[in-house]
Amino acid sequence: MIILGIETSCDETGVAICDNSKIISSYTKTQSIHSKFGGVVPEIASREHEKFLPEITQKVLKDSNLEFSDLEAIAVTSGPGLMGSLLSGISFAKGISQGLGIPIIPINHLEAHLNSAFIEFEELDPPFINLLVSGGHTQIWLVKNLFEYTLLGETLDDACGEAFDKGAKTLGLNYPGGPEIEKLAITGNRKLIDFPRPIINDGTYNFSFSGLKTSLINCVNKNEYNLDDVAASYQEAIVDSLVGKMKNSMDDLNINTAIVCGGVAANQRLREKLGELEQTIIFPSMKYCTDNADMIAFLGEKKINNNTAKIGINFSAYSRGMVL
Ligand code: KG4
Ligand code: ZN
Repeated sequence: MIILGIETSCDETGVAICDNSKIISSYTKTQSIHSKFGGVVPEIASREHEKFLPEITQKVLKDSNLEFSDLEAIAVTSGPGLMGSLLSGISFAKGISQGLGIPIIPINHLEAHLNSAFIEFEELDPPFINLLVSGGHTQIWLVKNLFEYTLLGETLDDACGEAFDKGAKTLGLNYPGGPEIEKLAITGNRKLIDFPRPIINDGTYNFSFSGLKTSLINCVNKNEYNLDDVAASYQEAIVDSLVGKMKNSMDDLNINTAIVCGGVAANQRLREKLGELEQTIIFPSMKYCTDNADMIAFLGEKKINNNTAKIGINFSAYSRGMVL
């Protein structure tokens, strides 16, 4: 089946085509316009999606030598995400579905992330743990079976990507903050400042990053340390929280495989520390870790094949939650 996927939940405009579980064409445009505002501006994100969707769709069709008339179904992210951004993608997808008379399937963005590793690792066998670490989410999931998931824990306040982004702002660095902090941390001493690892020993798989952010502000205000040491120590605190809770979940549930996805999965210190665990940790290619339409098209096709797709135009965008 040839299925078109559309992803517009935040500031990535993604379009992809999947054919029999293979991605045959894909393009993701990261909206760089937001960097000058120090974070994603929802109104601008929606407008950018609307502007770019038609040309990106033409591009992926051309790259795969296909016409609109070759498409057999369309899958689109319906939530969670920014409402205006989601609505831009949904309206565009509904238009194509109606125009071509092909089925449309709403896809939950989180469920797509949880399944994205199957694009490259077809032989992957549940159960496995999925650590989803991005600008909007910090969650540990147990993927029990195909389409069967349990949320083991999540952040009680900021997402870890947000902790990087807000931390970078405090340090006078650019947005997105994760890569900036990582760069500055290379020459720093990660053991110099003992930033808090909130709730690390609370017996849950939850996270909390807002206290850490406040400590960073206090530390910078005191002006006692070099910024590379501050960045390295701050990054270490975030990484320790992520690795600690993920290890606990794997040990407690006796699960030997974990997938790490989301933009923060790019962090080399996180990769290094997870690599020290005795369990198998899989990092999908970065293009499948960050927001992309490949995972939307891929899951849409999988759901159609398993008769679990909610086909039909009567759905709307939602800002939060795992709606399956
Ligand atoms: O999944 P993603 O691309 O987009 C959404 O969250 O929608 O994640 C973006 C987040 C940002 O907070 C960014 O600072 C963080 O991922 N990030 C990183 C790194 N690269 C991106 N955080 C730490 N280290 C990195 N190298
Ligand atoms: Zn995402």
